Amino acid sequence: MGGFHGTSAPEGKVAVVTGGGSGMGAATSLRLAREGRAVAVLDIDADGAETVAERIVAAGGKALPVAADISNRDQVRAALARVRADLGPVTILVNNAAVENFCPLGGLDDATWDRLMAVNLKGCFIVTQEVLPDMEAAGWGRVVNISSFGAQTGAPDMAAYTASKGGVIALTRSLAVELGRKGITVNSVSPGFIDTPMARRAIDGNLFPVPFEQIVATYPIPRLGRAEEVAAACCFFASEDAGYVTGQVLGVNGGTAF
Ligand SMILES: NC(=O)c1ccc[n+]([C@@H]2O[C@H](COP(=O)([O-])OP(=O)(O)OC[C@H]3O[C@@H](n4cnc5c(N)ncnc54)[C@H](O)[C@@H]3O)[C@@H](O)[C@H]2O)c1
Repeated sequence: MGGFHGTSAPEGKVAVVTGGGSGMGAATSLRLAREGRAVAVLDIDADGAETVAERIVAAGGKALPVAADISNRDQVRAALARVRADLGPVTILVNNAAVENFCPLGGLDDATWDRLMAVNLKGCFIVTQEVLPDMEAAGWGRVVNISSFGAQTGAPDMAAYTASKGGVIALTRSLAVELGRKGITVNSVSPGFIDTPMARRAIDGNLFPVPFEQIVATYPIPRLGRAEEVAAACCFFASEDAGYVTGQVLGVNGGTAF
């Protein structure tokens, strides 16, 4: 991976965005950088992280690409050591990385179930726990966990995925009540159907029971969401202004779940 990017000293705080190399994570990384944060773009896909970090620097921001699998504690520790050395202590964390799976219950195997839980739920636990000392030392922290409207509505052939995302909502609420008195807020953004590579894989693979245009047509706001619309919600939770907001789940979903 490339080394340190950008030249100007960061005015704000240091943010880590997991899964920052694609989709909503990329949009959130770009927006946080525009708002003056130094952003560590953490992704298992080293090239994706590098590309987003380069875009941030080209736009005048400060970024560091770091490659790590969030389900692997040693890799996360090594990545965060680089972030601290190059950017400073981490006080904003967006737990966005996840993997999807479509499979009817009868065919769902243990390995798939375990992998989805390991990345989507345990990954949030590992990365949050590993940045916690920085937030405790600062007496200030913002954790934003990306869940999914599927955890709220249910979704066919997505039991492992939606169960992992339901866990993310429960984790958010428990950490919010545990960490509030330390100055750390923990909130969740629950996206609806957002136009990203993840959604395109499902659309292109015809993995929905009916064409996606028919699904979207039933939504109160009848279109796919945009990654930038999710990024805006993440950046609100990450802001100074959101200091009295914790344990919340904000749907950015066109009105599909409440
Ligand atoms: N796209 C949608 O319609 C939708 C809907 C609801 C929720 N979500 C959630 O939004 C978040 C962002 O999704 P997206 O649509 O931008 O997906 P995406 O697939 O475009 O991007 C996800 C990124 O996470 C990275 N990643 C995957 N496993 C990782 C791991 N083990 N360690 C580190 N990085 C890893 C990928 O390399 C990728 O860059 C995810 O949590 C997803 O579950 C997506």
